[in-house]
Amino acid sequence: MFENISSNGVYKNLFDGKWVESKTNKTIETHSPYDGSLIGKVQALSKEEVDEIFKSSRTAQKKWGETPINERARIMRKAADILDDNAEYIAKILSNEIAKDLKSSLSEVKRTADFIRFTANEGTHMEGEAINSDNFPGSKKDKLSLVERVPLGIVLAISPFNYPVNLSGSKVAPALIAGNSVVLKPSTTGAISALHLAEIFNAAGLPAGVLNTVTGKGSEIGDYLITHEEVNFINFTGSSAVGKHISKIAGMIPMVLELGGKDAAIVLEDANLETTAKSIVSGAYGYSGQRCTAVKRVLVMDKVADELVELVTKKVKELKVGNPFDDVTITPLIDNKAADYVQTLIDDAIEKGATLIVGNKRKENLMYPTLFDNVTADMRIAWEEPFGPVLPIIRVKSMDEAIELANRSEYGLQSAVFTENMHDAFYIANKLDVGTVQVNNKPERGPDHFPFLGTKSSGMGTQGIRYSIEAMTRHKSIVLNL
Ligand code: NAP
Ligand code: G3H
Repeated sequence: MFENISSNGVYKNLFDGKWVESKTNKTIETHSPYDGSLIGKVQALSKEEVDEIFKSSRTAQKKWGETPINERARIMRKAADILDDNAEYIAKILSNEIAKDLKSSLSEVKRTADFIRFTANEGTHMEGEAINSDNFPGSKKDKLSLVERVPLGIVLAISPFNYPVNLSGSKVAPALIAGNSVVLKPSTTGAISALHLAEIFNAAGLPAGVLNTVTGKGSEIGDYLITHEEVNFINFTGSSAVGKHISKIAGMIPMVLELGGKDAAIVLEDANLETTAKSIVSGAYGYSGQRCTAVKRVLVMDKVADELVELVTKKVKELKVGNPFDDVTITPLIDNKAADYVQTLIDDAIEKGATLIVGNKRKENLMYPTLFDNVTADMRIAWEEPFGPVLPIIRVKSMDEAIELANRSEYGLQSAVFTENMHDAFYIANKLDVGTVQVNNKPERGPDHFPFLGTKSSGMGTQGIRYSIEAMTRHKSIVLNL
């Protein structure tokens, strides 16, 4: 079913219901992060082509916004079914393109199908309200405000490389059910997977122009997209640096930004250390640490630190490394630049006296799982987001010291607290300046109807199915004067 989206290895863009080649003849190659082989090429669109795309999106939105929600939901449920039917095919593309292990790729695709279906259902349950005037002091019952939610218009969705299907789908689906049209600009590495998702919506019968795609390097076309006068909402997931840049140049355009993190796992003396270690290792090293919600530091109470380090070390040594198509956890990082950056953090920690327990082994962009103990606040690894398989352990003397260190970070995505004592868990959770605190589990975004947000440099606005629909609609009030 995907024969139209590429020709001779060059992927086109979905424009007004058709897969169209760019007139620029400018392409960007995507190579496998695993073996360097050429996966395909995506096109770099021109500003004029972007203008045409926005024109198409505007026209299509007018009709789509008036399409009954039950009809929008029907098309989306169909898209979810088609995605499920093609899950294995798309998972393979994903694993090839971003070197995510196949099991995780399949789970990303299936999760996206569930997300789209749940969003369709949630949309059909969104209702307005009627507010009487006489609740307000001195007012009579002579007015009635009828409040409903209406679409914003055109949503510009920009997704990152690490979840090209899911973090595209989780922007597109809530925007669509709300009656918006969407211009999707996927990460250049990951674009091929995201374009397959776009074709699935197209094949499900989404009217022409309701979903259009734009490929091209963010550094070249990004600012033009962000500041385009036709954009009514920006839904961005990616690095804090790019997110902050977007919020500076976008003016009064509303937006949701989901950005980087430095999630702490705080381990108290009474924690079940076996299950804690398991959770920390899967949280820190899954997809080689390339998750915004990865455990990116451990703050452990001195008394249990030795025991925790021993348990974590054992599990890190068991992690399988290699080919994304084998049953492994650690695969090559997205590119050499990413690996070079991780290496600078490792080198800095060693130079400043951290205890290297496992790792610091590298073959080009394949970084072996690395674990440090006795990390201190003067080391970069204590504060910077590696987006790679490196975990620093910092020993603390009290809950308050852990809270202080956790909150000193520029990031505020999630944190985890491991303890059997709910009083302590709530004491810490209430003081952490993050979007979500997990008690006795690793940080994670799902289930996808939960609110997902970051404070400080981790973002602004809230995602999560209902929250995303709300973010991409506005209130409209019609007052009946009785
Ligand atoms: P990134 O480099 O910031 O890129 C994200 C997206 O922004 C890509 O589509 C990129 O396009 C585009 N972009 C780059 N410059 C732009 C500009 N000037 N204007 C508009 N768009 C522009 O992030 P990444 O490397 O893909 O992802 C890793 C980062 O994302 C990490 O920091 C991670 O923590 C964060 N992340 C956060 C969440 C969350 O939910 N909080 C989820 C996933 C990832 P190109 O690919 O063409 O450059
Ligand atoms: O990379 C950032 C994602 O939003 C994290 O999602 O917690 O399901 O891996 P996840």
